[in-house]
Amino acid sequence: MERKPILVVSTGAGVSAESGISTFRDAGGLWENYPVMQVASADGFARDPELVHRFYNERRKQLINVQPNDAHKALAELEKDYDVYIITQNVDDLHERAGSSNVLHLHGELMKIRSIIHPDYVETLDVDHLETTPATRGKNGDPMRPHIVFFQEPVPNIEKAVELVRQADIFVVIGTSLVVYPAAGLIQFVRPGTPIYYIDPNPAATPGIADVTVIKATATEGMRELEKILLSE
Ligand code: APR
Repeated sequence: MERKPILVVSTGAGVSAESGISTFRDAGGLWENYPVMQVASADGFARDPELVHRFYNERRKQLINVQPNDAHKALAELEKDYDVYIITQNVDDLHERAGSSNVLHLHGELMKIRSIIHPDYVETLDVDHLETTPATRGKNGDPMRPHIVFFQEPVPNIEKAVELVRQADIFVVIGTSLVVYPAAGLIQFVRPGTPIYYIDPNPAATPGIADVTVIKATATEGMRELEKILLSE
């Protein structure tokens, strides 16, 4: 049985925009009215952990009320014909809920918290008990923090992500402004000659990157266009 082509997809906030989750830089650098560095940086957490816990609990409650959109679903559908690996900067679980099997989170996961003392101790929050589940204390009594990669912190999954991109037969970038590294640098690791498709209504420039086909569209429209291109190959 011939192996399926490996399709690696790098997604950012734009892929969840049509689900109703706001992006970061479209809102002028505010994330739900908070300066990003106040609620998504190590300094911000050190300065005011209560504010940061409250902020992420608000994001979790918002996440419960949103659904995967047709772009998330189309990516899951591609698994019929491709070995699909999603590398996402998003902390939402919409790729998983749409049915994608291989999702690698670079910036953490909103529905998880981890011990400040034992960083390997991670708990998944129960969506039905968000109100009562204080995200500040684990079942083991440890003080907990959001399982989010804050600014000023290393990105533990980046090596794994680079390995995936190196193996890609096709690389797709959806809904990211390509300004936050190391995620934005993944595009440099595709093998020469690998076709790259970049879906974004307001695409960033990709200087020096060969073989990029820009699909200037929203994620849902762009995915329909990409499906046509892939089918015609
Ligand atoms: N469909 C596709 N893309 C869209 C849509 C849409 N409907 N709406 C907006 N976009 C695009 C914007 O044009 C922009 O290029 O999504 C991108 C959003 O960019 P950012 O807000 O910068 O989000 P992202 O690139 O994911 O940010 C990276 O920055 O704040 C940190 O850790 C946070 O993971 C985040 C990282």
